[in-house]
Amino acid sequence: MGMAIYPGSFDPVTKGHLDIIERTSKIVDELIVAILENPRKKAVFTIEERLEMLRRVTSGIENVRIEYFQGLLIEFAKRKKVNLVVKGLRAISDFEFEFQMALVNRKLDPQIETLFMVTNSKYSYLSSSIVKEVASFGGDIRDLVPPEVYDMIMAKYS
Ligand code: PNS
Repeated sequence: MGMAIYPGSFDPVTKGHLDIIERTSKIVDELIVAILENPRKKAVFTIEERLEMLRRVTSGIENVRIEYFQGLLIEFAKRKKVNLVVKGLRAISDFEFEFQMALVNRKLDPQIETLFMVTNSKYSYLSSSIVKEVASFGGDIRDLVPPEVYDMIMAKYS
């Protein structure tokens, strides 16, 4: 099914993100996981750390590559000549904003389509914000993040 972009801030990557990456990589020929700035959130992890974490967790998936872009998602997609964007949906609470972003992106560039991938129910409660909150108060995040990035995340909070 050609190429797709899975955009996000990945601050940090969670088991929920990895589940979407794995499942999408089985559907498309090539998947670009794109770290983009979310102007609504101040990042805790640097771009380099986020690139490194995503590289670690996807090292076994051949058709996935990791990139960073500063700017609009549609600009990145245009530059890469990719017209498919995949987003993960966890709950109805995600839907409103994701729907708005998808419509804005289509207004900005009607060539680019957004497809929503429904989360695995076992990760539906999970988010990067929850991971950071649990870690910052000394809670156990082992079940929430891929094992390859556990130490990198905990290093921020020790
Ligand atoms: O993982 P997140 O934080 O939910 O991802 C949101 C992200 C980074 C995909 C979104 O904020 C984004 O697309 N940022 C780039 C700027 C842009 O293109 N915004 C869309 C127009 S509303």
